[in-house]
Amino acid sequence: VNPPAAGVPSPRAPGATIWFTGLPGAGKTTLAVRVAEALRATGHAAAGLDGDALRTGLNADLGFSPEDRVENVRRVGEVARLFALAGLVVLVSLISPFERERELVRRRHDESGLPFVLVHVCTSLQVCEERDPKGLYARARRGEIDDFTGVSDPYERPASAELVVDTEGRTPDESTAEILAALESMRVLRPA
Ligand SMILES: Nc1ncnc2c1ncn2[C@@H]1O[C@H](COP(=O)(O)OP(=O)(O)OP(=O)(O)O)[C@@H](O)[C@H]1O
Ligand SMILES: [Mg+2]
Repeated sequence: VNPPAAGVPSPRAPGATIWFTGLPGAGKTTLAVRVAEALRATGHAAAGLDGDALRTGLNADLGFSPEDRVENVRRVGEVARLFALAGLVVLVSLISPFERERELVRRRHDESGLPFVLVHVCTSLQVCEERDPKGLYARARRGEIDDFTGVSDPYERPASAELVVDTEGRTPDESTAEILAALESMRVLRPA
């Protein structure tokens, strides 16, 4: 491949943000990790930003009050945007319960000319609670957690998700394949 001729703008780096939102236990982390693995296998530079992991470091100073949830989403959104600007495909898995903050993150990506794909992992509360992979629903129902999304804290369903994924009755492999196919048909990912 020849280098671009002088004066010809180089094509934009293949960065983008794929943002998984949904209730606790919906499958955000499971699917973001699998999609990242699949993208790496096809030569994309993929980076994961997971809410739980970030709360041990970058966001360790934040709790679960409405103000702190707002700041949590804002920070993750800015890190995602910067990573995407650097050419990474960023897979964010974060409950991100508020419509306003998700749309602010989208606008920040728009301003930078970066694709932003909101994936609503819309697994029902009932199924999430049956799964309860971390045992947190049980604790919230016992009153041991007083600001738990879906039980004692609100989750605002996205009005404008690019992709809505219901994991009920599907395996993680099936849901991963569904998302990869959708990303391909949306043509958000530049060839790596
Ligand atoms: N089709 C599916 N896609 C994703 N996860 C599934 C699917 N079917 C079953 N699961 C199971 O659902 C659980 C989802 O847990 P996961 O930790 O990914 O949720 P999460 O949305 O990241 O929750 P949290 O907000 O608490 O971090 C896992 O135990 C996973 O194996
Ligand atoms: Mg998770």
